[in-house]
Amino acid sequence: MKIIGLHFGHDASITIIIDGKIVVHVLAERHNRVKHSVGLRAAEIDAALSAAGLEWREIDCCAVVSTQDLEIMTGLVGDDFAIRPGDTKQHPVPSPFMQLLESAGTPLESLLVKGLQKVAELDEERAALPENQRWTKIFPEWQKFRAGRISSVGWLNVFIAHDRWNAGRGMEDIRSDGIDPAMFGNATRLGMHIPVTVSWKGHSVPGYFVDHHVCHAASAYYRSGFENSAIITHDGGDASRNLSGLFCYGQGSRLYTLGPHHLALGGIYRAMGIKLGFGAIGPEGKLMGLSSYGQPRFFDSRFVGNVHDSQKRFGEGPFSAWYRHCLKLAEQGHYDLLHGEASQVLNPISVDMAASTQKLFAEGYLLAAEVLHQGLAESDRGTANLCLTGGAALNCPSNSRLYNESAFRDIYIDPNCDDGGLSVGGALFIFHNLMDHPVDLATAKNNRSPFFGLQWPAGLSEEIFVDAGQRYAVSKPDNMAASAATDLDENKVLALYEGRSEMGPRALCHRSVLANPTDHGNWARVNGIKGREAWRPFAPVVIEEKRQDWFAGCPIHSPYMLFTARVRSRRLPAITHVDGSSRIQTVSAETGAIYQILREFDALTGIPVLMNTSLNGPGVPIVERPDEAYELFKDSAIDVLYLNGMRIGKK
Ligand SMILES: [Fe+2]
Repeated sequence: MKIIGLHFGHDASITIIIDGKIVVHVLAERHNRVKHSVGLRAAEIDAALSAAGLEWREIDCCAVVSTQDLEIMTGLVGDDFAIRPGDTKQHPVPSPFMQLLESAGTPLESLLVKGLQKVAELDEERAALPENQRWTKIFPEWQKFRAGRISSVGWLNVFIAHDRWNAGRGMEDIRSDGIDPAMFGNATRLGMHIPVTVSWKGHSVPGYFVDHHVCHAASAYYRSGFENSAIITHDGGDASRNLSGLFCYGQGSRLYTLGPHHLALGGIYRAMGIKLGFGAIGPEGKLMGLSSYGQPRFFDSRFVGNVHDSQKRFGEGPFSAWYRHCLKLAEQGHYDLLHGEASQVLNPISVDMAASTQKLFAEGYLLAAEVLHQGLAESDRGTANLCLTGGAALNCPSNSRLYNESAFRDIYIDPNCDDGGLSVGGALFIFHNLMDHPVDLATAKNNRSPFFGLQWPAGLSEEIFVDAGQRYAVSKPDNMAASAATDLDENKVLALYEGRSEMGPRALCHRSVLANPTDHGNWARVNGIKGREAWRPFAPVVIEEKRQDWFAGCPIHSPYMLFTARVRSRRLPAITHVDGSSRIQTVSAETGAIYQILREFDALTGIPVLMNTSLNGPGVPIVERPDEAYELFKDSAIDVLYLNGMRIGKK
């Protein structure tokens, strides 16, 4: 069974699974070089098909998904690419939602949304507002779309819903109502998709639109290896429209949607990042780094809850209420109120607002986890497992608090828990939940590898070595790991490029910059090399079996850099954040060359830890191709490039 997942929203991506196993994953931004890029192009889909050794006509089924409110730009793939929703003839799995619409006489078309088209219709001034600029900046074909030269089909934000979901329930209402037993039947399990037909290159493939958050849930749950699990999906979607995330439950091959939690933590976090001057593209990661500099002096437990709690308590939306509250306390506390510019992010008001928002975020998650844990226990489906997914699961300090403080004992977070993982989730949802294929542990383990990027031809690297030979010292070390460890011990900054690229937003040592963690100066030095703000922290990689000697307070297995740990040693100043924390990646032999490099570095220095950051320039995606890595090496102050086993060193 060959299934292709196509995600057309921001962080657009393609995933092909064969008999449940991921064989290739292509993140569009790595190919068109626009961070968080919207939409898919023919070349990207073709590259994924060719990597899987397949033609389009050999695909059995297609999952289609988009970001909330964003239409699918079919014309970007090509004039011969079309998606026709609602055709049920070739589809093996019925769609109760379509049947419901038909019996109610509601045309599906009336529910399809085209959010980008609305932005395209705005005048220049309004299109330049941060919330709109977010789209125009990450959509390279924007002007063409605006001029009406790219055709599209609307996306479906809502599928089957329970009456309670729209009843304005606060978090305590959700707790006291419990979980309707019907939610563990087919009511929503088979209600979060509709049939579509995807036509391209003269061939039609049956497929399904799958609900955005259900794809997030599937992406985490089916890879987790858990026999059953509570699942929380959460991102920056509109909580007042039930688009910010779901409580779900997975059992075997089945994924049950229990209902929306109406949390607005992702939206609050993003809005605060923009308020503090981090811009419309990716403010969340910077806010997370900044939060360690402050104290949560503005935190107030009255703000912990969901969007409906906020409306009831304050009569307004969660962010406006929260921001006003922070400003009021800052004024009473005689803070200098200046904030909002990049030069003001280290002002006391900025760092305390960041720390307070971080605490609000984590407390909100802890409450949600408690409510879900209790609801499942009362439904005789108690579980110690939790899958976290959606872009909000990139928040490492909050993830670690859930690990340390919630009732769940084991937590799995997918490496591309942001929208980049939706193509994975859509494909797995169809295979397991709709087609009822059981999940086996070997397949889940295969699917937990993040290294499913394209394999670039060896010829590309050969051309680089020829060119490099004329300007740099090029060699093929007998022991590449020992050579790299010596370079690091000599305090050189390395670029490590190896094999297939990693999924998700964080570099996991196939496209990484490495440095010696014992030299505090490397913090400023590598920020300088990468063109980042000097205050931004760096993460460590550590040999998994030695993690406990150096870090505390996070899972032993943290392979995707999604948990924060407390640093136990003073010997690692370059990767220890100002509050003594660190966002760790644990490494095993399966990770790749980095494992041996760490072992060799440990043998030389007694330290099984290195500084690791992504191999990219400022504001652009992680490099994908070997020639991009080489160009970045040439243009930067990186000392040495290890490229598929070869060493290129600046003389
Ligand atoms: Fe999302």
